[in-house]
Amino acid sequence: TVTAEEQMYRPNFHFTPKKGWMNDPNGLFYLNGTYHLFFQHTPFQSVPDFSKMHWGHAVSKDLIKWEELTPAIAYDEKGAIFSGSAVVDKDNTSGFGDGTNVPVVAIFTYHNMQKEKAGEIDAQSQAIAYSLDNGKTWTKYSNNPVLKNPGIKDFRDPKVFWDAKRKQWVMGLAAQDRQHFYGSKNLKDWVFLSEFGKDVGGHGGVWECPDLFPIKIEGTEEEKWVLIVNINPGGPNGGSAAQYFVGDFDGKTFKMDALFTQQLQKEKVAWLDLGRDNYASVSFDNVPDNKRIIIGWMSNWDYASQVPTNQWRGTTTIARELKLIKNQEHYSLISAPVHQLENYTSKSVKKKEITANEKVTLAENNEIDLTKVVVELSLKDLESETYTFVLSNKEGELLTFGINNAEHYLFIDRSKSGKNNFSDKFYQPLTKAILDKNQKEAVFKIILDKTSLEIFFNNGEKVMTDIFFNSSPFTQLDLLSEEKINVQNLEINQININ
Ligand code: FRU
Repeated sequence: TVTAEEQMYRPNFHFTPKKGWMNDPNGLFYLNGTYHLFFQHTPFQSVPDFSKMHWGHAVSKDLIKWEELTPAIAYDEKGAIFSGSAVVDKDNTSGFGDGTNVPVVAIFTYHNMQKEKAGEIDAQSQAIAYSLDNGKTWTKYSNNPVLKNPGIKDFRDPKVFWDAKRKQWVMGLAAQDRQHFYGSKNLKDWVFLSEFGKDVGGHGGVWECPDLFPIKIEGTEEEKWVLIVNINPGGPNGGSAAQYFVGDFDGKTFKMDALFTQQLQKEKVAWLDLGRDNYASVSFDNVPDNKRIIIGWMSNWDYASQVPTNQWRGTTTIARELKLIKNQEHYSLISAPVHQLENYTSKSVKKKEITANEKVTLAENNEIDLTKVVVELSLKDLESETYTFVLSNKEGELLTFGINNAEHYLFIDRSKSGKNNFSDKFYQPLTKAILDKNQKEAVFKIILDKTSLEIFFNNGEKVMTDIFFNSSPFTQLDLLSEEKINVQNLEINQININ
């Protein structure tokens, strides 16, 4: 039987574990046609148990439709299995290979609760496990940990990649208020390379879940390195969020790019997503065509364990492809939902042009189911002060979002969107993303599932992700403004993954 909670809050096309708690995505990799998603998981209860964290596991052929498998790595006497990464060790540098199968090696943090409780500083260390059956089953290395704690309480979330130029593995990990980089030839012996970041970027909380990777500037052959650093708290709208840095990596040190340094002097922090609910975003290893695909945890440590689901808690964002854009005076790391989502369009509503005064209804549920859609449109001639999208239901609950052109920001307002009094921090009235100038035209791609809104503004130049918990589904989408409304190329695609 389908419970009311299942009916109302189990997302239509975003991954959630069947039962239990989920936070960060971990160990993302691609091999032989399959994407693997591991995640921080307490399978037996829907709130986190930090002494018994597992790596849950799900697989997908296309990053959209996921199948959950049994948990891959369980806690043991050395500790809980905290966040980390996985790499496909094609050359068997680790020696774990058996001559037939490519070893996949997971690198994670052991978090030892007894030590933490006893006030010992070295509760966190880095360890590895390997798989010889394409990620299905995992064996922990007998000599764990491979990287001991150097005397830093928060020392975790190793993200490893193969640095082809230097023929070495590089591990970036969060060391309280900065990054540490380590190098290795075999994934077992690690030497300290450098540190980064204690005086730059956001420092409203501890640094967590980093990710360093090369990426070409769009439209050029020039390669830059991007470092994503998640931070909790200290996000742009409170709580946990992801920031990034653009620079260069010489095999030892990450240095910020000069232009990016200038940019940061003005902006202080570059945010990956300005919503409340995209945390611990990290990228997949070994993706074909050098694509940089990320997935985040669609929640916020401010209220994650109180959100009103009981059987499970936690959802992932839609998988997103990153691109690095550079114009004269600015770098932007932009994200767009992966193209595979389009393969699940079951029905579309298209309108070339709609003009109206003050209000227009864009969609109603007799036409399309607003709990599983991608809405695309351009707003032209933006002369009014505000353009507000309103999702409503029969209870009169409202989820609103849009542009304030007078004060230059994008916003999401979930204060009337349904159940939100479980946490003061969830209830905060507005999620805002500052825009640097008046918009003449605005392009929106909006992904709506039962409990989530993901806004990709102007082709991903600004992204906002927020979750919500209404008491009955939203059945209508309107657009309101003070004056004229001009909508071009409205396209609403129904997503059906079953
Ligand atoms: C980030 C985080 C990581 C840690 C994990 C524990 O959300 O705090 O730093 O490894 O969650 O579940």
